[in-house]
Amino acid sequence: MLITISQLIIGSVDLIAAFLLMFGLWRMASPVTAPSGILVAGVGMLAAVVASFLYVFTVDAVAKPHLPLNIGLAAAALIIGAGVAWWCGRKVAITAMPQAVALFNGMGGGAAGAIAAVELFGSQTHGVGPLVVTLLGALIGSISLSGSVIAWAKLDALLKKPLHVPGLQIFNGVVLLACLMVGAYIVFAAVGGAAPVLTMPHLIEIFFGIALLYGILMTLPIGGADMPVVISVYNAFTGLAVGLEGFVLQNPALMIAGMLVGAAGLLLTLLMAKAMNRSVAKILFASFGPGKKRKQGAIKGSLKPVQASDAGIFMRYAKSVIIVPGYGLAVSQGQGKLYDFVKLLQAAGVSVKFAIHPVAGRMPGQMDVLLAEAGVPYDLIVQLADVNEEFKDADVALVIGANDVVNPEARTDKTSPIYGMPILNADQAKKCYVVKRGDGKGYAGIVNPLFYADNTFMVYGDAAAVCVSMTEAVRGLGAPAAAA
Ligand code: TAP
Repeated sequence: MLITISQLIIGSVDLIAAFLLMFGLWRMASPVTAPSGILVAGVGMLAAVVASFLYVFTVDAVAKPHLPLNIGLAAAALIIGAGVAWWCGRKVAITAMPQAVALFNGMGGGAAGAIAAVELFGSQTHGVGPLVVTLLGALIGSISLSGSVIAWAKLDALLKKPLHVPGLQIFNGVVLLACLMVGAYIVFAAVGGAAPVLTMPHLIEIFFGIALLYGILMTLPIGGADMPVVISVYNAFTGLAVGLEGFVLQNPALMIAGMLVGAAGLLLTLLMAKAMNRSVAKILFASFGPGKKRKQGAIKGSLKPVQASDAGIFMRYAKSVIIVPGYGLAVSQGQGKLYDFVKLLQAAGVSVKFAIHPVAGRMPGQMDVLLAEAGVPYDLIVQLADVNEEFKDADVALVIGANDVVNPEARTDKTSPIYGMPILNADQAKKCYVVKRGDGKGYAGIVNPLFYADNTFMVYGDAAAVCVSMTEAVRGLGAPAAAA
């Protein structure tokens, strides 16, 4: 009777956790509701953790003596994990968030792999189905762990160039095949009764070793602008691995949370691949990126520097300005100062919009979050597909800390690492101001012909400092006339 009530309570808490996770995820769809969505999902995770501890009421007599040690270990893991996450959350700069996401995602994959390892080394899994599911979770989780670590190293510039070795993809295929064959052997040997899983620790170790190696080899050749999609793919992998291990443990919260993460990661992957106009297969299996040797064609025109004050005053008398924020705005943390400038323009009757590229910055939605943080109303923020046609009628395109997302080479140069990526049509505006510190390149490491175009003028300086100078210059003109 006690067990039945315990199971009922655990099931109910699991269900509440799953509902909160789904509700939180749904609220994360918009930057306006995202903060509360994160909070709700956090409470959901807490409920799932509580449910895990409630399992102590269902253990059988044989396992009871191990309870104090196991609870102690789980509590220690929780304290260490929560402490590290808390410290990272406070310490990591917004510009380093993609690296942090890659690492945390890798840990999710590693956790799924660890569950599988406990099941396999402890010979807890019986029958073809559960064994196959456990091994699949182990494979996917391990690939996600080692692949995410490489993605982190690449984003953190510890690994600078993608690995281009002829025949690497074929070698990778052989490695994956070897891993699958070892897994298949474990299943056949265990199910055929030749040997229980417990007696094959070395084979299990080899299986994990090859899976981890495959994650590394699969990620090394991918470079440049494709890294966000790769992280998203590993995000989907982690979700799937967690879901599979949840199935093995018959833990509904793990199953639901895993599948949610898996589905969200998959959708995000497809959306980003579409935004970059590349297929997921091409991203994962075709060598690509700034590491590939290529001679960029000669660029016509010249760089034309202007003062921030002149640019600010010109925009004050324009009818319409479209602002393209990019990674550099996040680096300078100039979003608040930019919005101060925008408010002055609006007060002078200028129509202002923010044009958002789906992969501007270094993580999905980074620009939306940045602008929401500064208090920019959501109706001023327009996504690429909805704003691109408006550039040709705009008086000014103000490109601030952005580079690759406005590089016209993406439309025309088939040898360019960003060829095919849709770009914001800043080059079609009547006049274009580009705010950046110097001749630094964008993420793809290529020169941008837009900066040399006849109607483009360079405003050199840190984005936040330039915004302050533009604001001061416009303020210096005095209040706009009532009729203006
Ligand atoms: P980028 O092409 O990376 O260009 C950023 C520009 O900002 C640089 O040219 C840099 O030039 C300038 N900059 C840096 N710090 C600055 C500061 N403090 N003040 C003013 N300017 C500053 O940025 P983007 O246009 O946003 O494009 C994003 C790129 O990252 C794409 O290639 C995308 O594929 C890739 N990526 C995206 C993601 C996601 S999901 N968003 C994740 C990883 C990679 P200076 O050094 O001369 O100032």
